[in-house]
Amino acid sequence: MKKENLLIIGSTGYVGSHLYEYYKSTNPYTLGSSRRKTLEMSYCDLYQPSLDFLDQVKIEYTSAIICAAIPNIAKCENDPKETFAQNVLGTLNLIRQLQLRGIKPVLFSSDIVFDGIDDLYTDQSKPNPINEYGIHKYFLEQLAPKLCDECLMIRLSKTYSVDIQDETFLHQLARRVYNEEDIRAASDLIFNPIHIDDVIKAIDMLIQNKCRGLYNVTGTETTSWYMLAKQLAHAMGKDGQNITETSIDEFGAGAKRAKKLNVRPERFLNEFPNFKFSTLEENIQNITKFYPINPKVSS
Ligand SMILES: NC(=O)c1ccc[n+]([C@@H]2O[C@H](COP(=O)([O-])OP(=O)(O)OC[C@H]3O[C@@H](n4cnc5c(N)ncnc54)[C@H](OP(=O)(O)O)[C@@H]3O)[C@@H](O)[C@H]2O)c1
Repeated sequence: MKKENLLIIGSTGYVGSHLYEYYKSTNPYTLGSSRRKTLEMSYCDLYQPSLDFLDQVKIEYTSAIICAAIPNIAKCENDPKETFAQNVLGTLNLIRQLQLRGIKPVLFSSDIVFDGIDDLYTDQSKPNPINEYGIHKYFLEQLAPKLCDECLMIRLSKTYSVDIQDETFLHQLARRVYNEEDIRAASDLIFNPIHIDDVIKAIDMLIQNKCRGLYNVTGTETTSWYMLAKQLAHAMGKDGQNITETSIDEFGAGAKRAKKLNVRPERFLNEFPNFKFSTLEENIQNITKFYPINPKVSS
């Protein structure tokens, strides 16, 4: 199938750079934007977003994936005004401009819109954010469809990569497990992590099939920091004695955290039942290739 021409706004970030690389490799007309002035990227800042750079381009763009955001929970909590201005007001401004140009917006929300009290959340579950970052995403989920009924909202869970250069949480944890550091890992903070390659494939599927509305794009397996640390230790042939089970409450002050984020990609799986998510086990095995197995301890 011929790939449509896509605009990736915020193409220097983690999700944005993976999307940009993927689409650029299949369609040279893929255009990225950044708030840093670079030769390759067009300039767009959420503070005062402008799509004027498209006037210089003779290519027609049909969808824009907005990856630009301040997704840092602590930053949002500590500076709600500034981060709201970018995450919500700037993004809504961009959506309006995209609409005027006939470009369909693809947006990101997060599993953090939920309060983590229920055992299971689906696409239909009622959000109830308990921290500032969650509130930003909640506003986007509520307001974006009012501006544009064509928009596609992708609600992501925590995303990881096997690529060591991405420095996602799984490699950070793997390094600590490998070095046998003392690790206090919460067993009551549970979530459904998703591999970045699955995110990219799922987004591509949704765009190609002209889907709109809200989709959970979340992992299908539920785990906790404690379980992940233990699984990594086992895969590395370590005894895991240095890993202590604890509660997220012991990590002190900061933004409130939803504890149980078992958020299922129900709508996505109903519409794409043949989509195969990679498993945590296989990705953990792939991660351990970066860390030589300890020959002294049997697994
Ligand atoms: N990664 C996850 O696990 C995850 C989970 C749930 C939801 N999400 C959502 O997915 C989206 C992408 O997240 P990510 O992990 O890729 O975040 P990221 O790595 O922090 O990247 C964010 C991008 O936004 C850009 N940006 C920040 N402020 C901006 C501004 N004022 N104007 C223009 N660009 C700005 C950054 O540019 P600079 O490089 O210049 O800073 C960067 O390119 C976000 O909406 C996030 O909430 C991500």
